[in-house]
Amino acid sequence: MNTPDRNKVVGKPLNRVDGYLKVTGGARYSAEFPVAKLAYGVTIQSAIAKGKITQIDPKAAERLPGVLAVITHLNAPKAFGDKGGGRKLQVLQDNIVLYSGQHIGIVVADTFEQAMHAASLVQVRYEEEKPTINMRENLSKAYIPKGKIPRNEPPDASVGNVTQGLASAAVRVEQTYTTPVENHNAMEPHATTAVWQGDQLLLYDATQGVFPAQQKVAGVLGIEPKNVRVMSYYVGGGFGGKGSAWSHVPLAAIASRQVKRPVKLVLGRIQMYGSVGFRPETIQQVTLGATREGKLTALRHAGTSQTSTFDEFIEPVGKSARMMYACANIETSHRLVQLDQGTPTFMRAPGEASGSFALESAMDELAYKLKIDPVELRLRNYAEVDPSKGLPWSSKSLRECYKVGAERFGWQKRNPTPRSMRDGNYLIGWGMATATHPTYRSPASAIAQIMADGTAVIRTGSQDIGTGTYTVMTQVAAEAIGIPVEKIRIELGDTNLPETPVSGGSQTAASVGSSVHLAGTEARSKLMQLALADQKSPLYGSNAEDVIAENGSLFLKNKSSATETYGAILGRHKLKMIEARADAKPGEEKDKYSMHSFGAQFAEVRVNPDSGEVRVTRWVGSFGVGRLLNAKTANSQLVGGIVYGIGMALMEHTVIDPNLGRVVNRDLAEYHVPVNADVTAIEVLFVDEHDPHVNPLGIKGIGEIGITGVAAAIANAVYHATGKRVRDLPITLDKLL
Ligand code: MOS
Repeated sequence: MNTPDRNKVVGKPLNRVDGYLKVTGGARYSAEFPVAKLAYGVTIQSAIAKGKITQIDPKAAERLPGVLAVITHLNAPKAFGDKGGGRKLQVLQDNIVLYSGQHIGIVVADTFEQAMHAASLVQVRYEEEKPTINMRENLSKAYIPKGKIPRNEPPDASVGNVTQGLASAAVRVEQTYTTPVENHNAMEPHATTAVWQGDQLLLYDATQGVFPAQQKVAGVLGIEPKNVRVMSYYVGGGFGGKGSAWSHVPLAAIASRQVKRPVKLVLGRIQMYGSVGFRPETIQQVTLGATREGKLTALRHAGTSQTSTFDEFIEPVGKSARMMYACANIETSHRLVQLDQGTPTFMRAPGEASGSFALESAMDELAYKLKIDPVELRLRNYAEVDPSKGLPWSSKSLRECYKVGAERFGWQKRNPTPRSMRDGNYLIGWGMATATHPTYRSPASAIAQIMADGTAVIRTGSQDIGTGTYTVMTQVAAEAIGIPVEKIRIELGDTNLPETPVSGGSQTAASVGSSVHLAGTEARSKLMQLALADQKSPLYGSNAEDVIAENGSLFLKNKSSATETYGAILGRHKLKMIEARADAKPGEEKDKYSMHSFGAQFAEVRVNPDSGEVRVTRWVGSFGVGRLLNAKTANSQLVGGIVYGIGMALMEHTVIDPNLGRVVNRDLAEYHVPVNADVTAIEVLFVDEHDPHVNPLGIKGIGEIGITGVAAAIANAVYHATGKRVRDLPITLDKLL
């Protein structure tokens, strides 16, 4: 069967199908579901970073009108542990304080105001111990992680012999780069509304993964996952912070069961600095050895990051060094230091964002040492195969990215000498860096239903974390089924729907898109078989290859009279609908190919020589990311990633009090992120890339690659402008004076 070009909507810059609902307030977020008899929960958080609660007095709170319960470790029900993956949680099981911001109690009341007031009256006394807060002062305690980094790779890996490679090098760069703690700062706060119906728990949760949240909460409560339903229709930003269920999610369920009423628990902005993860601080040593001609002879990337005392999260900063450049001798390692802080977590391109700052800054330093253009240096070390695995790429358009990006930016006009370019009093700098992100895919299921009224419904668990899943899945379904996008309805964000993975690792489009594509194609094929075998159909007895699906009708390629609508076929068979389910999963391609997306970031900065203030004034990012599902949402993802990278480079820095372990700048007034005035015109170019191997649609993820390389491109541009190499993010003005 064929799909005529007129049906081709995949790739088109369709407006968001949920856009109208979002701008009119019709899109319901997790804290916005009207639930009868709703009560409000507010958590009490630890004011110290380490020690024991010696006394916690709920009496004053309990006496307030409207207060339904004050739950602390003294009266909390037993929890059943940390099955179901994700981070280890604290759900009021003992008096031990592990980090500042740990939830140590929850107050439930008739109104939010009563709960807030009551929570403020709970008296807590602690026996305080001196916490370990500063990673840099505790590097002697660094250890080799027990866990793996993504793709099940060991924390330490090497090919060749870096010591020998360095011995044979004519030029070396050996530098240390650091990145601070950063917080996700999604606009929508973490929020959970818990509703018990008998022994069935319904959670409206702001999450990037309804299924992982279901598993986690069921594990903590000691109930069957099938008794927990998690719904998440809209998410106002996740960035990894909502990629796993945190302690407040089961706490909402526990509180609701206790007071026998639905409970809504919304974390305050301040409460989200510490209790729901963050990007960990990193210290990274990069050592490069190269010949005079700029061929790498050795590459070593050694990273240390923080984790908590009770759980392990590895920021995999060395991951891209394993595959980025052709080099016979590569060594990468990851070390962890336990601190008395919450467990860090994924934050947009975990590993690649922080790691590329170090690696791509070091490459720039090497380019200067060798007096080779930074783009040219990268081309001289272009990896034609994955240098660690020896595998071919499923596709790679990086050479093209460098070329079109450099052309568009005007890179050839760059005078490489630092401080050589000026605009009046301002110093102008041009810098570049390579971007990369792995292409992940997980098993995902979907059901496609073609209805007798000519519409179609797609049902798939998944979730739209603001990235456009509703929209792009509509496009995939419309094309697979052969009906217009207006006739497609997507149901997602519900564990009652077919299972899908967490929306993390930029994998949703590839994973869920594959299943929607297969289910839609199968449903259309079933419908066609029905027509071909039906004597009353004008298509009866035709060859499947001669049938075309278009605009909700089937017809013969050569005889336009032989046509009938999907509705007519279903109606004659007295069917309300025809449906197909697809359980799509990655196959052997993942062992045969190394699968990554690539890009090139070109930045222009303007530095005020008197104040040290850095402004990004121009940006060109060029990317090879496989097939685009929607040119508009794709552009938004890449632009958003670059903006996030500008924040990382110039502003973002979670400041932690060295004694109390508490975040000092815990609001959006003092934790700086870019605003419109900080962001110039960002131009994103897509290189046409057809990847026949990654998945049925040739999709590579685009949620994270945009941020990678950005901080390095800016740091490199700042060096070009000022002659100062800043190796410690963020590049604030004090570091340039
Ligand atoms: Mo992303 S940091 O994998 O949600």
